[in-house]
Parts: sequence; structure tokens; C-alpha cells
Amino acid sequence: MLGETSIRAMPDTIQLAPSLRTAQMPLTQIPIIDVSPLRGAPGKAEMVEQISRACREIGFFYAVNHGVKEEMIARVYAEAKRFFALPEAEKEKVAIEHSSCHRGWFRMGGENLAPAKQAQGDLKEGYKVGRDLPLDHPRVLAGVPLHGPNQWPDFLPGWREVMQGYYDEMVELGRKMIGAFALALGLDEDFFAPWLGITMTTLGPLHYPPQKGRVTEAQLGAGAHTDYGCLTLLHQDMSGGLQVRRRDGVWIDAPPVPGSFVVNIGDMMERWTNGVFQSNQHRVINLSGRERYSLPFFFDPDFYAPVECLPTCLRPGETPKYKPTTAGQHLLDMINASFCYHREKA
Ligand code: OGA
Ligand code: NI
Repeated sequence: MLGETSIRAMPDTIQLAPSLRTAQMPLTQIPIIDVSPLRGAPGKAEMVEQISRACREIGFFYAVNHGVKEEMIARVYAEAKRFFALPEAEKEKVAIEHSSCHRGWFRMGGENLAPAKQAQGDLKEGYKVGRDLPLDHPRVLAGVPLHGPNQWPDFLPGWREVMQGYYDEMVELGRKMIGAFALALGLDEDFFAPWLGITMTTLGPLHYPPQKGRVTEAQLGAGAHTDYGCLTLLHQDMSGGLQVRRRDGVWIDAPPVPGSFVVNIGDMMERWTNGVFQSNQHRVINLSGRERYSLPFFFDPDFYAPVECLPTCLRPGETPKYKPTTAGQHLLDMINASFCYHREKA
């Protein structure tokens, strides 16, 4: 995984439906942006300009020099693999169905990111780690949805500490990144700060088994979707398989770039910016012939954050494209659309 430099070629036992082929493009389609100015290095104005362009043009970029240590990321992968390798009966102990706030393990097919196309759900399993709030926290006592304690697989010593350490680090990186987004939108850097206290941030390690035989849109690792939230910071291993749909409809590869996070816009940010920043479709097809792992981190603000057209995103004569909502309501709507168990519980 880490340390390997080449992407696996597709085994010749796989037949890929024509709609799943990508245009062969140079890597420059998705820009690589040095984000060290988030941590005080010079060049902030240039970085903001690059982020602004990437968010307006394709909605994706690779962030390098982000400051999160490779050793830490490697430990998170190791713990994720340790969990996913357990027998079902063990994983069942922390199944997401037992959680009051959407935390824990979801089985293969448990999430369906393209319900219109896929009957069986995505060919992946995952684990949701969120903000770990105790049962006596005022918001938990008040029954605010999606707020509460994590489920931890305490039968795996050390697992919790590794995940929590990474989670905390990613919340900090997300906070800084959102400041750069505010600048890129012509707002004050701390514009979003009032809504970044009790963020609804989620770390969701994923495991994709290899796709086999004839591969069609009827079941992909992750069906074509846009992310629900504000912004996503994704670490992918060296398997490849992430594809991004450009604004002109052409699908291109987003291959692994060592030392980077793939950063992309989610629907909430698209709503906030009235589409100035676009949340682009993407999908995952694991054609590597082996297990693929990834670490998406979804950065979402406070449950009560209003999500309505930002003052700098409406040109004279334009009207907002989306009805105002809140971050919490928006997330609940999206989770209900892609997780059957959650919809049935509601
Ligand atoms: C997601 C997603 C990509 C990946 O979970 O929303 O797009 O590489 N993941 O796992
Ligand atoms: Ni996604």
C-alpha cells in the first residue's frame, strides 16, 4: 500500500462495461495544490487562488504538504484492516444498526450511493467514527440526531486511540481548509467559524473487495454519487479505482498521488455557494485484483448551521437555486437516501 509506487493493472479476467471506461487524460486535470500555507508557510494568496480555481472548475484537488504524518496514516490503515479482517460475528458487535447516532460498522452493501442503479448496494464495507459525545452531553440529552457516543471495538486494543488521534488531526486540518475556502469565496477567513464548534465530522474507513467478472453500473465499489456534506478529505491507498466526472460529463481517473489527500466539495458547499463551487460526481471501481482500502473524512459543520446562499455567491439578477436548509437536516436527508437501515428506523 503506502510505499508502493505503481498502480496495479486491471486483471484480464475483468470485463468492464463501456460506460465505466475513463478517458485517458494527463494527471494535470485534477490540480495538485501545496497547502503548507495553511500551517503558516508563505504563499497563502496563491494557494487560495488555486483552491478557488479548482473548486470552480472541477470540484476536486490533491492537497500535498498537509502536515499529517505518513506514519499516522499507515497506522490508521493497519487498524482499519485489522477490523475488517475480523469474522462477521465480531464485527456484528459494533454494527451501525445498534447505534442511535450512525456510528460503527456497516456491512457490504449497507451503503448504496447510487440507489437508482444498484439493487444490492455498494461493494464495500465501512466504519463510521464521529464526534464522540458522552450520553450526558446537552445535545445528546436533548436527542439531537447524529449526536452521541461512538461505538468502539474495544476487543481490539489500541484501535480507538489510533482512530481518535487521526480524527482529531483531521478536524484541525478541515477547520483550516474551510478558512481557505472562505477566502476563496471572498469572505472573511473566519466566516464559518461560528459553526465549527460541535462539527459533525466523520471518519469512515472503507474496504473494497476486488471486482470480478463483468462489471457494470449495477454494482460498483461506490456507485456514482456526489458527497453529501461540506468538504471531503480522502486518503486512498495505491490500488487506484477512484473516478471523477468532469463538468462536461467525461469520466477521468483520480489516481493515487503519494502524500496527498483528495479534497472535494460536497452538496452542502454547493448549496451554500449556489453552485459556484460544484460538488462533482465520482465513483470507485476496484479493478486492482486485490483488496482496496480508503479513509474518507467528511467535514461537516454544526447541526444548526444555516445552509443558504452565501452573500458573495449571488450575482445581480440571480436567484438562489436551492431552498435554505440546515446542515443537520441536509445530512439526515442524505443518510436516509443511502442507508436503508436508517430510513427504516426513522
Ligand atoms: C465516499 C467516496 C472514495 C474512495 O466515501 O464518498 O467517494 O476512494 N470514497 O473510497
Ligand atoms: Ni464520495
